[in-house]
Amino acid sequence: MKLEVQDLRKKFGGFEALRGVSFSIPSGKTLALLGPSGCGKTTTLRVIAGLLKPDSGRILFDGEDVTELPPRQRNIGMVFQSPALFPNFTVRENIAFPLEARGKKPEEISRRVKEVTEMVELSGLEERRPHELSRGQQQRVAIGRAIASEVKLLLLDEPLTALDAGLRAEISSTIRMIQRKLGITTIYVTHDQLEAFAMGDFIATMFDGTIDAYADAQTMYAKPPTEKTARFLGFVNRLETSAEHLDPETIRLVFPGGEFKMKWHGSKTAGKVAVLFRPEDASISLEGEGLLDGELSSSMFAGRNTVTRVKTSQGMIECAGNDSSQYQAISGMAGRKVTVKIDLNKALLIETGKT
Ligand SMILES: Nc1ncnc2c1ncn2[C@@H]1O[C@H](COP(=O)(O)OP(=O)(O)O)[C@@H](O)[C@H]1O
Ligand SMILES: [Mg+2]
Repeated sequence: MKLEVQDLRKKFGGFEALRGVSFSIPSGKTLALLGPSGCGKTTTLRVIAGLLKPDSGRILFDGEDVTELPPRQRNIGMVFQSPALFPNFTVRENIAFPLEARGKKPEEISRRVKEVTEMVELSGLEERRPHELSRGQQQRVAIGRAIASEVKLLLLDEPLTALDAGLRAEISSTIRMIQRKLGITTIYVTHDQLEAFAMGDFIATMFDGTIDAYADAQTMYAKPPTEKTARFLGFVNRLETSAEHLDPETIRLVFPGGEFKMKWHGSKTAGKVAVLFRPEDASISLEGEGLLDGELSSSMFAGRNTVTRVKTSQGMIECAGNDSSQYQAISGMAGRKVTVKIDLNKALLIETGKT
């Protein structure tokens, strides 16, 4: 089912929690809705589920307006951060609940419960009650209950946040497997960008009650559409420089330590540009091969790489390129002159308009 959300607005007292939220999801795809705590993600889901009435805006299921439909008739499955199971019901009874509520026949209920129990990998635990299950198993029951009746839309609100890292990986792979098998249109809400990239076909970033950017996961990772989203996704370094066209598709960027040519699909009049890049796409050179001069400020061993901060004329630049042997050599050498190498093919160029 194709979901369309059009210009949702919602105020709590004088506070505007949703300030015009719009997006759509193609049938069977998963949208990861990514944003910091308090930006309005849960409110958006509650409005879509019909648990909260919007002040204005529309929700369409396959083109049909469901904004006024009561939650029950929307046929939506929901999973929250905490499992919210019926404590006195067994696993079987919890999963069967939505089927019974819809008046399904006993044979159909038992067939479906068996199928779903297998899908969420709880076979053999059907007669246990929630207090006899681990947190991860409880969350599996919640997922099973959400998909038990044939729902059109699955809403997952930070379903892994309360779990530890190992369980998170296991349960996210179960969720992905269910996605592929059932092909239910899904919104996966999270504040964690790694989770968003792992779960979403599409990613929407949300700040302060509005969607800032929307793109497929690959585009969102490599070339986020807005500067605000880019910064949120780890493009924390920013340099300003000038760019000039060599031909309509190629520009030359000028840095103190040299020039760099790259493909360019922006406007014809380059001029001043901001170059944004991730720490992992920058490393330091002790031999002066970099594009930018600076002085070593600090370096911190972080396991897979060493995070080095370099003070430059354009502010602090964070480098996390992983040449581990080199980083051994620089630990404790604050103040040393270095140059910064940048993998500009992975950088994001934004026209600042200034000349
Ligand atoms: N029922 C409510 N009454 C008043 N304020 C609310 C209510 N629900 C949410 N809010 C406020 O709306 C904002 C968005 O909340 P929420 O949608 O829960 O954010 P998120 O899920 O992204 O963390 C927050 O500032 C929150 O305090
Ligand atoms: Mg929330």
